[in-house]
Amino acid sequence: METLVHLLGPLHPPLVHFAVACPILAFFAVIGQRFWKKPWLSYSAGALWIFGFLAALGALLTGHLFSLHLGMETQWAIIPPKTAMKGHLRDHALLGTFSFLFSILTVWASVKIIRNKPWPSGFLLFLGLTVAVLFGITGHEGGEMVYGAEDNPNVAASASPTPPAGNLLEMTQNYSKVLVKMNSKTWNSRTHGHRWVNTYVSKEAVGAYKNSKLLPEGSLVVKESFENVDGKPSTTAGPLYVMLKGKASDSPSTGGWQFALQWDKPVPGNNEQIQTPVKWLPGDHNLNSCVRCHNRFKAADYLGGIPEGFENP
Ligand code: HEC
Repeated sequence: METLVHLLGPLHPPLVHFAVACPILAFFAVIGQRFWKKPWLSYSAGALWIFGFLAALGALLTGHLFSLHLGMETQWAIIPPKTAMKGHLRDHALLGTFSFLFSILTVWASVKIIRNKPWPSGFLLFLGLTVAVLFGITGHEGGEMVYGAEDNPNVAASASPTPPAGNLLEMTQNYSKVLVKMNSKTWNSRTHGHRWVNTYVSKEAVGAYKNSKLLPEGSLVVKESFENVDGKPSTTAGPLYVMLKGKASDSPSTGGWQFALQWDKPVPGNNEQIQTPVKWLPGDHNLNSCVRCHNRFKAADYLGGIPEGFENP
């Protein structure tokens, strides 16, 4: 399952383009057929609908794997939790499933076309338009979830002046006392090396973090981790994962977020192949993977949040 998630999950973005493009092209073929009665246009529509259906099936399956790969949800769920990505993930999945089920009709229509007993052309036109629109909206919704809507509201007013990035890891001292713990119990984070984690945020950011609103400038988020031993958390500390919300204008590609990582006592044979104590500060190329993945969560201020059932009330 783990291999499937990481191997097939990332195929979702390329596959969805086929699932959206095929029904649109099929629709044009059906319109064309109304004016220019060439049989090959109907056959093209049929073939495109079948391709589109297969791509949609692939997109549906890989979509669930992709959300697991990115850590938007922690386990396979046909209907994702309400809390994931401010509910966008659930809407996207429901719309996608509905579009897929609806597109079964287009396969039926294609079979009729191939057997030279097509349904009336008015109905085919309606079917083609509906399926193209449904998949278009599903794709648009998915895109907005990961890339964010263009009209992003302004970043909340600054809570404190942004400290220079060089201090970032020093700011995490005493994090467990100074910051507020946002989860009720430790969970296993697939996306952070399968370690057991707790998330802490600065006091002024608690409300915004809980409600997936934009966090105020200066917010600090620290995720502590413990190594996994036989499926249980150990007392051996893993890396400290850190995010600081700086000025959006300083790092526009991440909405102002800066990433850092510190691991004082790396355990031998760790996944990341870290051998000596490390302090990665913003700009370190080792942090590129953090940025790439967290950028998918633009709809929730680049934050993955606490999985459902683990939130601190
Ligand atoms: C493949 C995706 C992925 C990668 C890579 C990744 N993260 Fe995350 N991150 C998540 C998800 C999902 C969550 C929330 C759920 C969880 O932790 O399991 C999260 C949570 C966090 C949090 C707590 C704040 C929040 O988002 O709710 C911090 C801090 C954090 N990550 C830092 C980092 C740093 C630093 C790196 C790189 C060293 C990194 N992450 C790499 C997906 C990722």
